[in-house]
Amino acid sequence: MIGGAVDLIRRSRYLVAFTGAGVSAESGIPTFRGDGGLWRRFRPEELATPEAFRRDPVRVWEWYRWRMELIRRAEPNPAHIVLAEMEKSGLLKALITQNVDGLHQRAGSRNVIELHGNIWRVRCTGCGRVKTLTKPPERIPPLCEACGGLLRPDVVWFGEPLPPAEWEKALAEASFSDVMLVIGTSGVVMPAGMLPWMVKEHGGSVIEINPEYTAISEIADVKISMKAGEAMRRLGEALGLL
Ligand code: OAD
Repeated sequence: MIGGAVDLIRRSRYLVAFTGAGVSAESGIPTFRGDGGLWRRFRPEELATPEAFRRDPVRVWEWYRWRMELIRRAEPNPAHIVLAEMEKSGLLKALITQNVDGLHQRAGSRNVIELHGNIWRVRCTGCGRVKTLTKPPERIPPLCEACGGLLRPDVVWFGEPLPPAEWEKALAEASFSDVMLVIGTSGVVMPAGMLPWMVKEHGGSVIEINPEYTAISEIADVKISMKAGEAMRRLGEALGLL
């Protein structure tokens, strides 16, 4: 398993990583689907849609504040760290993530494409001003300092398009990529979940790290059925990065 991934990575010309909530699970941040997943305990249509925010911004903000607290206390795990080392060594060209937690950047990754936004960024629903928070807001809901409008988390909710510039960048990276390392995603949320399929379509290879069988597993050339932290630690050692 690890050996097959090491061969593919060593032979790659343009390696790109694509990550989901599972890469941060070992940092203590819950995933969305599966056992212990957020969507088992909360209803996405009440918390992660523009309609939900219009109906009850306080409730939505309470949920985001709770998640910000979890994320603030979390530390990058070996999966984040090895990905950052892979970029530094020149092996990894880009990292596309569906996560909003910023842990890849905290681990040292630089070329990170955030498809679903970032939980620390807020956007004014009135004037559109964007600001980055350093801690969860004390007052809920937070208001814009410039115009007094309601601030919202600058993340992608269900029914909303992806940020166009980020999506363009992700499409370009997928088109350059001859090997994609897919870690900790169920692969069911579109359009992000299409990226590994695109790599396959132009003749590239897919390595999947996920303890479960997913929507990506059927196209994976190498499947590592392990948790991200352990699999990436072993991969990092085999590649001489640790
Ligand atoms: P999901 O919660 O759908 O999937 C998480 C995946 O991580 C599952 O396939 C798990 O098997 C796997 N997993 C769990 N623990 C793991 C570990 N320690 N190591 C490796 N894998 C592990 O999360 P995403 O695929 O990221 O969107 O979900 C995509 C999007 O759906 C999210 O960005 C979010 C959500 O609704 C929005 O909010 C727009």
